[in-house]
Amino acid sequence: MDKLQITGGRPLEGEVRISGAKNATLPILAAALLADGPVTISNVPHLQDVTTMIELLGRMGVSVTVDERMRIEVDPTTIREYFAPYELVKTMRASILVLGPLLARYGHADVSLPGGCAIGARPVNIHVAGLQSMGADIHIENGYIKARAGRLKGTRLVLDTVTVTGTENLMMAATLADGETVIENAAREPEVVDLANFLLAMGAKIRGAGTDRIIVQGVEKLQGCEYEVLPDRIETGTFLVAGAITRGHVRVKNTCPEHLDAVLLKLQESGAKIGQGENWIEIDMRGKRPKSIDVRTAPYPAFPTDMQAQFAALDAVADGVGTIIETVFENRFMHMLEMRRMGAEIRLEGNTAIIKGVQRLTAAPVMATDLRASASLVLAGLVAEGRTEIERIYHIDRGYESIEEKLSGLGAQIRRVPN
Ligand code: EPZ
Repeated sequence: MDKLQITGGRPLEGEVRISGAKNATLPILAAALLADGPVTISNVPHLQDVTTMIELLGRMGVSVTVDERMRIEVDPTTIREYFAPYELVKTMRASILVLGPLLARYGHADVSLPGGCAIGARPVNIHVAGLQSMGADIHIENGYIKARAGRLKGTRLVLDTVTVTGTENLMMAATLADGETVIENAAREPEVVDLANFLLAMGAKIRGAGTDRIIVQGVEKLQGCEYEVLPDRIETGTFLVAGAITRGHVRVKNTCPEHLDAVLLKLQESGAKIGQGENWIEIDMRGKRPKSIDVRTAPYPAFPTDMQAQFAALDAVADGVGTIIETVFENRFMHMLEMRRMGAEIRLEGNTAIIKGVQRLTAAPVMATDLRASASLVLAGLVAEGRTEIERIYHIDRGYESIEEKLSGLGAQIRRVPN
């Protein structure tokens, strides 16, 4: 297993291009199962999770071709089984996103229950209950969700917790259901909107994506289409924090500033100068130590839980005391324990972290535990004195395309070495 070696102390300078959004690509690849013909998806990030989803579709007999520019053609008409095996689902819980499409299009789905992951139990009860309300016969057997249905029926669904993949699974299922489905308390994330736009391009009838009330009018069938995935707002935020924490000057290109309002406000609060245009954002923190900021995570458009770990790294070297409250997941502070080993002064009280900024972190061997935690350790390594070594970086490769090349392009001293 590879590890990353980072020598800290250099302010980052320059431009970086943002890749397509992982959390839009995954549901869109699953939604391809709904089509009666091939779909072509572009701006797809080259990530382990995308490779896993492609492998999952391939295992079902779906034809998937990828060209040198990572444009993916998916032809679901060759599908021969409706099965998502534990060996794949355990590595990527987003595999659950094939459940709704398989059930709606083929009336048959055997999908492994995704285990929990490092950050929490990650239940799927809302996914299952919603599909049952639409007429599916679902039971759990030997760790698998066994689902059968005739044509699903449109109905009114009230989700008791905001869940992005739960909203996505039910919205996908509703596109081919008989009648109208209303999803109340739906997730409003931009990736939900991107999926809805993809489904609309296939001929679905959807209103309200991006609000907490999504209305879907079921249709008989959906045709193939071409679609470009939206830029990754979390990768964008991660590179902006990299510019802030190293007191540098970074421009991120090919991104959507309007998807980062809560993050940009917090960066300005920390003292950064922010410029933005239609598809770029610039951060200037030259010569300034960040000021501590308080963060409370919540569903979009509030501050994203996927940016919590990155801001913990920023607070670790900021001037003052910052508090971070994690309200979405029950165990998303593992990075705090690793940062303490680098000299961070962090006190944990339940779902609250109190972080007293220090002048300098010191390099240490640390271990990545989940995708965004590993990104925060990279950020800490960029400012720590000495050479930080991060192990288990397969977590990073799940969600960040070519992170060491992109950071090196901004002047960071970072390299990947075999363990
Ligand atoms: C999506 O996960 C993202 N993943 C996550 O990104 C992101 O952190 C999360 O939304 C929140 O923004 C993808 O889009 C593939 P959940 P999602 O498990 O929607 C409760 C990353 O870093 N819940 O639904 O799958 C659950 O306990 C990943 O890229 C139920 O109770 O998140 C939690 O409290 C990490 N029952 C909340 O909802 C259910 O059936 C959201 O968790 C489903 C969820």
